[in-house]
Amino acid sequence: MTETAHRPGRARLLLPALAFVVLLAAGVGAWTFFARGESGAVGGIGGPFTLVDGGGHPVTDKEFRGRYMLVYFGYTFCPDVCPTTLAAVAGALDALGPKADRVQALFITVDPQRDTPAVVRDYAAAFSPRIKGLTGSPDQIAKVAGEYRVYYAPQRSQGAGDAYTVDHSSILYLMDPDGRFISPLRADQTAQGLAAEIAQHMSG
Ligand code: NI
Repeated sequence: MTETAHRPGRARLLLPALAFVVLLAAGVGAWTFFARGESGAVGGIGGPFTLVDGGGHPVTDKEFRGRYMLVYFGYTFCPDVCPTTLAAVAGALDALGPKADRVQALFITVDPQRDTPAVVRDYAAAFSPRIKGLTGSPDQIAKVAGEYRVYYAPQRSQGAGDAYTVDHSSILYLMDPDGRFISPLRADQTAQGLAAEIAQHMSG
């Protein structure tokens, strides 16, 4: 056989092998994305963070142990998705009644440059006093966003001067009282739907 004649044969073996590897990688990726991981464990969602609270003081994830964390990433200049989501979270916390005392809602900014501690605190509190607004240094925000697999990217349009928007993924994350990931929750649902989903994941 000539060298040329070998190539199709090798390709016939290579392609299925390559397809298998790609499918395996996709499967592992999907599994790790939704797997219930230990806090901070490789492959899990969430993990330890140090951020800055509304008073300008450092706050870590450990402060919220013993309560479920309902975590959302966004920014206060967000024109539509963030306000809609935070309104739903506020309504869900009201609908949960006494159960809401066991839930800490966190709004973590992906725009730390404009969202100072006071700005993000007041913004979150305007929806509900139960929602805590957190910011941090760009590095702190990048780290926690990475742990939660959150995508965000500032978008500057020409002629807009200093103005910019921030594209960001919009998913609510429900974490258990030990800080472990329970489930992603859709952000685009009603307060009642959200409350029902949260309650269904809570023990007792
Ligand atoms: Ni937003």
